[in-house]
Amino acid sequence: MAHYPDTPVFTGTLRPMRFEGDIHDVEVEGELPPQLHGTYHRVHPDAQFPPRFANDQFFNGDGMIGLFHFRGGKLDFRQRYAQTDKWKLERQAERALFGAYRNPLTDEPAVQGSIRGTANTNVLVHAGKLFALKEDSPALLMDPLSLDTEGYTDFGGKMQGATFCAHPKIDPATGNMCAFGYAAKGLLTRDCHYMEISPSGELLQETWFEAPYYCMMHDFGVTQNYAVFHVVPIVSSWERLKAGLPHFGFDTSLPVYLGVLPRHGDAHSMTAPACISTRRWRRTTCSRSSRMCAARRSIRSRP
Ligand SMILES: [Fe+2]
Repeated sequence: MAHYPDTPVFTGTLRPMRFEGDIHDVEVEGELPPQLHGTYHRVHPDAQFPPRFANDQFFNGDGMIGLFHFRGGKLDFRQRYAQTDKWKLERQAERALFGAYRNPLTDEPAVQGSIRGTANTNVLVHAGKLFALKEDSPALLMDPLSLDTEGYTDFGGKMQGATFCAHPKIDPATGNMCAFGYAAKGLLTRDCHYMEISPSGELLQETWFEAPYYCMMHDFGVTQNYAVFHVVPIVSSWERLKAGLPHFGFDTSLPVYLGVLPRHGDAHSMTAPACISTRRWRRTTCSRSSRMCAARRSIRSRP
């Protein structure tokens, strides 16, 4: 029988729903505009089974996808799990096999080496597919309407990297999806790759670069000609993982960088100015906007 930990991340509004199903013509409070036609996709972590460790964190849960389909004043709802490799292995075993957040040392031996992704962070539609995303693993493709899972993609063998970010951007001029991955040659590696995927789903480029140190690179920015990456000292190491510490910790001794990559050049012309030190940020309690101002100054000098 399933029993979840009695902790804040598994109770109240964060209690796992574990529900897959369809509701035709949802009851609605008020009126839906009859002109509204289309779909809205939602994703949230929803642990399929109780975690291996009671102190597990919310973002270690399996991705659950919700589809809200608006059609002329009516609304239909559908919800399905993103059937990641992890989800399939655990469904077969009927229990959690994977351990702590981004720590494969805590997994059962039988699943060592499997893709640990949960596809629980973001979803968006591109090239007719729903991309269900978690930055520590490749993109999981699903059908946007049926929510059937197709599986992880390497874009027909073209993508060499192992990860795909959760916040890709769509270039309004070309329709390309702009994306990147960090730890792209394996957990804790400094290797990153920048990618563009055409409106038809073809991987057009994969440009490699190295971050000054391994860190959490959750999001990035894209301009007409550049992709901009923030390197902040939210770091990890094998020592942390062996000690059973949370994957990420904050190291105030490391500088902050902005990596500026020409989208259509190569990584040799990439620059990475140190924009403001974390130490100074803490000492002066500069607000986030100050840090962003420094970032904007760095970017502005590159048209
Ligand atoms: Fe995010």
